[in-house]
Amino acid sequence: MWLTSSSIGRKVIMAVTGAALILFLTFHVLMNSVAILWPAAYNSVCAFLGANWYALIACAGLAVLFIAHILYAFVLTMQNRKARGNDSYAVTATPKSVEWSSKNMLVLGIVVVAFLAVHFIQFWYKMQFQEIIGNHYYETAQGVLVPATAGSAFLHIAFESIWTPVVYIIGFAALWLHMNHGFWSMFQSAGWNNTIWLPRLKKIACGWTSVVVGLFVIQAVWFTYEAKTGSYLNDPKLNEQITNIYIENLQKEGQEIQKIKDPVQREAAIAKLQVEERKVLRSIKAIAPVKFAEMGIPEEYLQEPVVEEAPAAPVAPEQPDTTVVNQEPANN
Ligand code: HEM
Repeated sequence: MWLTSSSIGRKVIMAVTGAALILFLTFHVLMNSVAILWPAAYNSVCAFLGANWYALIACAGLAVLFIAHILYAFVLTMQNRKARGNDSYAVTATPKSVEWSSKNMLVLGIVVVAFLAVHFIQFWYKMQFQEIIGNHYYETAQGVLVPATAGSAFLHIAFESIWTPVVYIIGFAALWLHMNHGFWSMFQSAGWNNTIWLPRLKKIACGWTSVVVGLFVIQAVWFTYEAKTGSYLNDPKLNEQITNIYIENLQKEGQEIQKIKDPVQREAAIAKLQVEERKVLRSIKAIAPVKFAEMGIPEEYLQEPVVEEAPAAPVAPEQPDTTVVNQEPANN
């Protein structure tokens, strides 16, 4: 097939997948802006884009685009190296900066993928993945249950660590260089080699990339500031919204218990829910403290319920160990 077997075909695949990824990033940066302007609306969007079929199909499509883009990047780089042979660092007429990112597209791409790995562990794994596997919450190492749709809480958790903005800004720098070069070379691959249009496209590419990546940088700094000042934790509107998510989840689980016919199983499920209820209250205290204070719940109620021990079975009086005592001295 021409698309996969010819060099131009492969470049077209790179260009089309690259263009789709640029559109995704443009959507992503706009969505992050909602978290800055209206954090409660951001959480509602996260809930909407959770684990429904449309979101899952879009996510799978995105994953295919990413994988195709990465695989073809390797194939094209290997091909170029082979074609250039020892002359791979020959001086060309292109400006130094363009030349640098052009030669280092693969390395830049690897830095972006490394950033993405960290990013997925911090967000996607704790949010959409938890919903996919049927969990309402992600449980932190401290035992706090964070609703999988509470994007603002995950932003707080991620950007609380000073390493997050550091790693992100390194990732964004690589992304800027990678996108900047990839964007206009995508037009070049598609045959727009026009001497008037190519310089214009370079400017458009640089402008678009700079706005998208620049916004990501501002957002990373903003979220770090929000996390350090604890404003997502102390926002009464967010507190109310997150507490409602917990209450709805507990109610849903309570309704499921009503459906259990077997009394023994029902008792066990009720006991489990009581334990979860306390965990939920401790979690509200941790991530919605303003609401928790209003609820006026006594501190003792947050402790694990004391499991009543079953009355101990009567113990038979201990028999003296006669094995040695009763032994007759050996007759020599
Ligand atoms: C300040 C910067 C960023 C923040 C705060 C941020 C935040 C998030 C959040 C909260 C999610 C989870 C959404 C959900 O599962 O409902 C997410 C997903 C994702 N992010 Fe980012 N992101 C940032 C930058 C980036 C960049 C630069 C890239 C790509 C190079 C990227 C790629 C992705 C991808 C591929 C997903 C998974 C797809 C999805 O669930 O929509 N993000 N991001």
